[in-house]
Amino acid sequence: MKPVVIVTGAAGLIGQYVVKSASRWAPGWQVQGLSRADLDLTDHSAAEEIWRRLNPSAVIHCAAISRTKDCEQHPQLARRMNVGATVHLARLSTNIPFLFLSSGEVFDGKVGWYRETDDPTPINVYGKTKLEAEQFILQNSRHTVVRIVLTAGTSQHGDRSFVEDMRRSTERGNNLTLYADEYRCPLPAGTIARAIWELTDQHHPGLYHLGGRERLSRWEIGQALLPWYPELQGHLLEGSAHSHTGAPRPADLSLNCDKIQRLLSFSLPGFQSWLKDRVHPAVDLWEYEPDT
Ligand SMILES: NC(=O)c1ccc[n+]([C@@H]2O[C@H](COP(=O)([O-])OP(=O)(O)OC[C@H]3O[C@@H](n4cnc5c(N)ncnc54)[C@H](OP(=O)(O)O)[C@@H]3O)[C@@H](O)[C@H]2O)c1
Repeated sequence: MKPVVIVTGAAGLIGQYVVKSASRWAPGWQVQGLSRADLDLTDHSAAEEIWRRLNPSAVIHCAAISRTKDCEQHPQLARRMNVGATVHLARLSTNIPFLFLSSGEVFDGKVGWYRETDDPTPINVYGKTKLEAEQFILQNSRHTVVRIVLTAGTSQHGDRSFVEDMRRSTERGNNLTLYADEYRCPLPAGTIARAIWELTDQHHPGLYHLGGRERLSRWEIGQALLPWYPELQGHLLEGSAHSHTGAPRPADLSLNCDKIQRLLSFSLPGFQSWLKDRVHPAVDLWEYEPDT
């Protein structure tokens, strides 16, 4: 019998890739994905019952209220899920490895290339909830926090990743303003899933940053996607974050990933380079993941 690993948020963008890539990267585990349809994670007694029944040997916690805008509009809900449910699941997993996906949004974005040792100073509700959960989780020496940033990929309903947001917007005939002065270090969801599985197999708990090697502006990211999504042509407008009026947004969330890179069997790619290496338009772009 293989040990059971629970993956929460299994119908979400990253959870989906974690579950479907398990046969390739985690053959030693029996993967039990949990979506919201299986369990509302804010229902603590239902979660306890499932943990008792499945008796997991590890947990990968991908479920969250993950959109900055949603957290800003519904701060209590964001706290109940991102902090309350996360802390509860970590308590249920006290004696086993628990990997929590956090976010670069714990930083204010004034500097960039953040290391794990840098002080987090979140400027929005999402970042604050993530940091609060991190602080609880890192008290357990078996547990792991992985901070990620912008993630590319496709989701069940086509409404989760920034790539899907761009496509949906242009399909409706809208133009999209991409800030040339807001920086991220994106990675494809498949690469994130691979790194998560490698960490899960290695038992090196602690805090890690996981992002692409290249620091790119939103505008540069949009330009890099054009060869793959020619329908975006003419719909992308270059803008500045100075004109932004919604929830506070950190300007530069590039992450220094040296610490996790030392544990991985493959080199973390830059997003532009990763896209340039893809040559088969017939294959789903985001399904591709090289062996080395
Ligand atoms: N994607 C990124 O660019 C990015 C960047 C930084 C950090 N992260 C973090 O990485 C993790 C995974 O992100 P993601 O992009 O995969 O997010 P996602 O696509 O929004 O997936 C999150 C999943 O959690 C589920 N969920 C929310 N509340 C729940 C509840 N009460 N009970 C059960 N399930 C619930 C959602 O269900 P519904 O679909 O029903 O809402 C969704 O399927 C999150 O912790 C996120 O904060 C993501």
